[in-house]
Amino acid sequence: MKIDVFTLFPEAFEWFEGQRHVRNALGAGLELAYVNYRDTTPLTGGQVDDTPFGGGAGMVLRVDVVDAALQERYRLDPETLRHRRRVLVMTPGGRQLDDGFVDELVAEPALTVLCGRYEGFDERIVEHYASDAVSIGPYVLAGGELAAMVVCDAVIRKLPGSLGHAESAWEESFSAALDGAPEYPHYTRPADFRGWRVPEVLLSGHHARIKEWRLAQSRARAERGSGGNR
Ligand code: ADE
Repeated sequence: MKIDVFTLFPEAFEWFEGQRHVRNALGAGLELAYVNYRDTTPLTGGQVDDTPFGGGAGMVLRVDVVDAALQERYRLDPETLRHRRRVLVMTPGGRQLDDGFVDELVAEPALTVLCGRYEGFDERIVEHYASDAVSIGPYVLAGGELAAMVVCDAVIRKLPGSLGHAESAWEESFSAALDGAPEYPHYTRPADFRGWRVPEVLLSGHHARIKEWRLAQSRARAERGSGGNR
């Protein structure tokens, strides 16, 4: 798979690229590239954004700046790009990421991820260049980089060769067995800490009972929804 991330802050992805599963995927054929909008801006002084028409706070990423960056990278009219590869625009009002959406993206040969900044994108970018507007949740981040990393992480960990064999086998059986329900609780040593005991069934060595208990826990979590404890 090829992933191109368009951003004003490519250096923000350095930590992400160092993660083991990402390095594994890169070793197994993933191509991950970063394009800085500033490198191809047609405006002077490295300008990439502007104040919103109609007034209001913040700055908006300009459509001509994104156009120039896409043209330079793909050598075609960016309006046609979305018919050739998925072009994701990271924005809080987009389609919310979930496991099904991630699976859709994993099946693609190539993704383009556009990060916005400040108040986001000129809407014409979303309308004319994006195949998908993507949100990682109903809250507003200061920029699209963290959201892009979330999307990339969720996609990359599902690529062959990303997770170790044991992890991916576990993941596979886990997701099939749990039917999309949330994870069951995990415990490790010590078995007793401040009187908080690990459920006895997990110490029993009885695999069938453990499996049954985990399934029940996972279903109960799905029914209650995951909430806080306060
Ligand atoms: N950019 C700012 N907030 C975002 C969010 N919640 N999801 C995706 N992109 C964003």
